Amino acid sequence: MDALRIRSTGKPLEGTVRISGAKNAALPILCATLLSDGASHLRNVPRLRDIETTAALLRFLGRDVRVDAPEVHVAAGAEVRPEAPYELVKQMRASVLVLGPLVARFGRAKVSLPGGCAIGARPVDQHLKGLEALGCSIRLERGYVIAEGPNNGGRLRGAEVMFDVPTVGGTENLMMAAALAKGRSTLVNCAREPEVEELARVLNKMGAEVSGAGTDVIHVTGADRGELSPFEHAIIPDRIEAGTYMVAAAMLEGGNVLVQGAKLSDLEALVMKMRAAGIEVTSEGQDIRVRRFGELRAVNVTTAPHPGFPTDMQAQFLSLMVMARGESVISETIFENRFMHVPELQRMGASVALRGNTAVVQGVRRLYGASVMATDLRASASLVIAGAVADEETEVRRIYHLDRGYERIEQKLLGLGVNVERVRGAES
Ligand code: EPZ
Repeated sequence: MDALRIRSTGKPLEGTVRISGAKNAALPILCATLLSDGASHLRNVPRLRDIETTAALLRFLGRDVRVDAPEVHVAAGAEVRPEAPYELVKQMRASVLVLGPLVARFGRAKVSLPGGCAIGARPVDQHLKGLEALGCSIRLERGYVIAEGPNNGGRLRGAEVMFDVPTVGGTENLMMAAALAKGRSTLVNCAREPEVEELARVLNKMGAEVSGAGTDVIHVTGADRGELSPFEHAIIPDRIEAGTYMVAAAMLEGGNVLVQGAKLSDLEALVMKMRAAGIEVTSEGQDIRVRRFGELRAVNVTTAPHPGFPTDMQAQFLSLMVMARGESVISETIFENRFMHVPELQRMGASVALRGNTAVVQGVRRLYGASVMATDLRASASLVIAGAVADEETEVRRIYHLDRGYERIEQKLLGLGVNVERVRGAES
């Protein structure tokens, strides 16, 4: 397993970093290609392990997939076998996003339950409840979801779906299912993330009628015919990757970084907190500039569904607050086990007390380099950010977590003046 070795330069990050396409937009859009037999073309797709895993799943389902990031081509191949096996789904939870498109397009689907992950139990009950409202029969068998359209695999029918929680994956799965259901569906208490809006844009390109994405009520009128049209689409920039570099830029006084291709409007909650901490965040055309002049003030953060503070930025922001003057309180409300980075940061000299879903951070003047272990995607990013400013040397192990969501991270960090190298096979 690879590791990242980071040697301190004692200098703040400076320079320009270009943001890649959004992982969490590309994954559902790749699944949406199942709704059409035509040849679809995605551009600005990040070169990430999760993209490869999704491509492998689509090939297993019978699609012809060519990944040449940032370009991906998906076309009909052999006859589709609507079954997503545990071996593929266990590698990436988002694989459950094939369930809606498969049952809507082929009348039935057998998809492995994704199970929990490091950050939480992550149930899919809302996905299943929604599909049942559209007329699906759902049964769970030996760790698999068996879904069937009405009357033994017939077409789904439009209906109202009320989510108990604003779930990103649930909203996306139901949007795709409803896009081929007969009639109109109304999805209530939806997730409002920019990635949900992006999927709606693609479904509309494919001939569905989706309105209200980005709000908590989405209306979908399914296409009359049994399949949608292929599409060509360039994926939006990754707001979480952008946020990660913005926070890294602010870790030390004097930081000055231009984050290219990032949309400030997708990151308002983060930007508000960064400004409250005394960091200058400005728009420069299509880009965002982050500059830190003075001391960092401690601010409190509570994660929430979009447009609230993103849970996917919690770990990175906590690393920032470790370097702030004073006490900050970070509350995680989305996932029940998303503080795995804290014990690792404590190894680097951070002063953080965990109390249930809250971390109380006392700012420190410096961090010490150490060997630390990545446990999940965003936790690993928070350790890399801390390592970039810690003294001497930090080794972040198990960075396969990082490779799931950050394209060419060491090259991008090198471009910002971080002394970093990938150590292949650092750990057996
Ligand atoms: C998406 O996960 C993202 N993943 C996550 O990013 C992100 O953290 C999350 O949304 C929240 O913003 C992708 O887009 C691929 P949810 P998802 O369904 O869809 C509960 C990263 O770092 N819930 O919105 O799985 C659930 O347990 C990843 O890139 C149910 O109870 O998240 C959680 O507490 C990590 N029942 C909350 O809702 C359900 O059926 C939000 O989960 C579904 C969800």
